[in-house]
Parts: sequence; structure tokens; C-alpha cells
Amino acid sequence: MMQRALISQPRSLHTAIIMDGNGRWAAARGLPRGYGHKAGGDAVRRVVQAAAELGLGTLTLYAFSGDNWQRPEREVSSLMRLFHSYLLSETEKCASHGIKLNVIGRRDRLSPPLIEAVRRAEVITSRGSALQLNIAIDYSSRDSIINAARLIADASFSREAFSRAVADAMNLKGPSSDVDLLIRTGGEQRLSDFMLWESAYAELYFTDKMWPDFERADLEIALRSFQARERRFGRLPEAAAI
Ligand code: FPP
Repeated sequence: MMQRALISQPRSLHTAIIMDGNGRWAAARGLPRGYGHKAGGDAVRRVVQAAAELGLGTLTLYAFSGDNWQRPEREVSSLMRLFHSYLLSETEKCASHGIKLNVIGRRDRLSPPLIEAVRRAEVITSRGSALQLNIAIDYSSRDSIINAARLIADASFSREAFSRAVADAMNLKGPSSDVDLLIRTGGEQRLSDFMLWESAYAELYFTDKMWPDFERADLEIALRSFQARERRFGRLPEAAAI
């Protein structure tokens, strides 16, 4: 009922989220940043469940950028532990709810146990068709574009072929890697090297809510805002084209 009212063809929708504000959420409570990331992990669980219930096709979450390695070692390792424990606790749940989990980004700088947890999660959830969940870890959109260019540098290629190569370069699977709705929490309004190619015609939605406070209702508000927009992909509005 809710999903039909909310969005007309949810299964073909690709929503991507830049989950920002964990640190400020913790600081506002006088807590170390790690608590903010932990609360951010709880928000991930809530939002993934909501996305599956709403029947959204693809959800891509920006969990760790290539540039995030420059954060203090303590914070980096606590984030890596969080990703690992998320995969350990959620893989079976995802499989039983038809959620297909896919990690995008570089793998070679992750620890062997994390790489193994990613591999296992992708195998166990591979038959899911209710929701494609992409988690971006050690992800850089610029790197994915460079890698794609390297892959097909000397072929004569089309825009579609290049688009597929960008998706392949970062292990981004699914019916379409184009982002329809890009949400950023935490009050900042920038893309931070996330899905630059795939967001060519994405509708952008910024909210001041810190990521750990982001609820299902906030996702629904963003989806309503998306639905109210007229997407023209560079064309004229229908009335003006007559
Ligand atoms: C940005 O907030 C957030 C991150 C760099 C990490 C995102 C990670 C999570 C939401 C944790 C769990 C994720 C998964 C997939 C289990 P920030 O730290 O830059 O916040 P700030 O701008 O307030 O300092």
C-alpha cells in the first residue's frame, strides 16, 4: 500500500546514500566518534530493512571512501571492524529477505578476514531478488572511471559500453548502475568522489539530519521529494515540446 503510493516503479529505482554526520552526532552527545559510527551501523540496518519493505530496486551506501584511509588509524580500524561485524550479523538475514549484497570498491587494501566475509556474503546472498544492496568500501568514483578507461582504452566503444566498464570496474552489478536519487545526510552538499559517472542525471536530496538519526520516515520523505520532481534528462518539458 505504502510502496505503491510512494513511488510508481520502485523496483527499477536506484537510490544511493552518502551517510554523513556520524562524528558530529557523537560529538553532540559528548561521545567518541566510534559511537557515532556504531549508531550509523544501526541506521544502516533500519534503512536497508525499509528499502526492502518499500520494494526499492537498488540501494547503494557509501561506507568508506578511498580518502577515508587518511583518518586516524584508530577510527579506520573501528570502521573496518564495524563493516566486518555487519557482514557477519547480516549475511544470513539478507539471504532470508531476498537482499543481494554486493561490495563495491577496492578489495586489495582490506584485511583478509574482511575480504573473506565480503566474498561469503556475496555468495550466500547471490540469489536475492528483492533488493540489490551495494556497500561502497574503499570506493573512489574517479578511480572507477580511470580503471574503466584502462580496461577499454584501445577499443572503439560506445557510451553504454563505457558505462558498463565503469560498473564492472567497481563491481557494481544490477540492471542499471545509473543513480536515480542521491541522498546525502549531515548537512553538507557535495558528492565526495561518489558515483560521479552514475549520477549524471540523479536527483539530489540533501538533509541536515545526521546519519545515525536517519529513519524510515526520512527515506520516505526523500522518495516523495523525488517523486514530485520532473525528470527531463535534458529534454524540454512535455507541454513545451508541442
Ligand atoms: C561519514 O561520517 C561516515 C563515514 C565515513 C562512515 C560511514 C559508516 C557507517 C554509517 C557505519 C556503518 C556502515 C556499515 C555499512 C555497516 P563522518 O564520520 O564523516 O561524520 P562527521 O562529518 O560528522 O565527522
